[in-house]
Amino acid sequence: MPRPEILVARYVLPELLTRLQEHFDVDANQEDRLLDRRELCARLKGKAGVFITSNERFDAELIGCCTDLAVVSTMAVGYNNIDVMACTEHGILVTNTPDVLTESTADFGFGLMMAAARRITESERFLRAGEWTHWTYSLMNGQDIHGKTLGILGMGRIGQAIARRGALGFGMKVIYHNRNPLPADIADPLGARWVDKSTLMKQADHLIVVVPYSAAVHHIIGADELALMKPTATLTNIARGGVVDDAALAEALKQRRIAAAALDVYEGEPKVNAALLDVPNIVLTPHIASATGDTRRAMANLAADNLIAALTGGTPPTPVNPEVLAAAV
Ligand code: GLV
Repeated sequence: MPRPEILVARYVLPELLTRLQEHFDVDANQEDRLLDRRELCARLKGKAGVFITSNERFDAELIGCCTDLAVVSTMAVGYNNIDVMACTEHGILVTNTPDVLTESTADFGFGLMMAAARRITESERFLRAGEWTHWTYSLMNGQDIHGKTLGILGMGRIGQAIARRGALGFGMKVIYHNRNPLPADIADPLGARWVDKSTLMKQADHLIVVVPYSAAVHHIIGADELALMKPTATLTNIARGGVVDDAALAEALKQRRIAAAALDVYEGEPKVNAALLDVPNIVLTPHIASATGDTRRAMANLAADNLIAALTGGTPPTPVNPEVLAAAV
């Protein structure tokens, strides 16, 4: 029986490629060149599975090229780049890589928040520019973290991991806004309190945004929400570009309506709104919240586990649209 063919659309570790080659005929893009849509479409012909990342946009048009596709495995927890509904309609399983990146991503989000509040990258730029001539009382005074109010927008796995760091490590009060309040057995040990969105904006000293992207949360933080925040507050976005209105944020920072911000994700990334590059009180990183060697390996392996299980009669560990599996039984 012929082995299923798959496309690995981005570089993967050689050991992972070997693992996939044990099960599949693999068309691999090891040079890691971003494949344009025409090339993706051409290379998807005859493929039963594809390994992608959050960079590849998998929309209805592309799905139209995929006559034999049974599974799209993305090496990311977020899957707003994939038209899941269209996949489901075509009987294509979508899988992602939750859990394995939760703690690394929470570490990074917390670190970004600290960098913004304590002006760490701004200080480094100042020092490197040779502007440090002497100690002064208010040189790079920032905002405390410990004992302050941590606001979390989106209280899923990563939000909860950030809440643990804040409450248990830094003695922060935790407030959050989410569609549904957390069960008491999770919220109570952290002292985490559900509040409405405007209370979150008004009371947070440090707000971290971790809500998954969907059209419903596009610009959920814009000029009106930023206007509610304390002038001493910070805002950190590790969710997705588009959840925060980047232009409105740049303006709020420029006007010092809030103290500082940190972004790992951007509207239209890898392009960054030029206004953000012009303000000093912001920390900017290139979408790397899950980027540690261990975590990226775990994500890649989970993406491979999903592909292998889906195409060899097993049970994929982390399906996004399990209804496709149920329909196949
Ligand atoms: C990264 O942004 C991810 O969704 O894994």
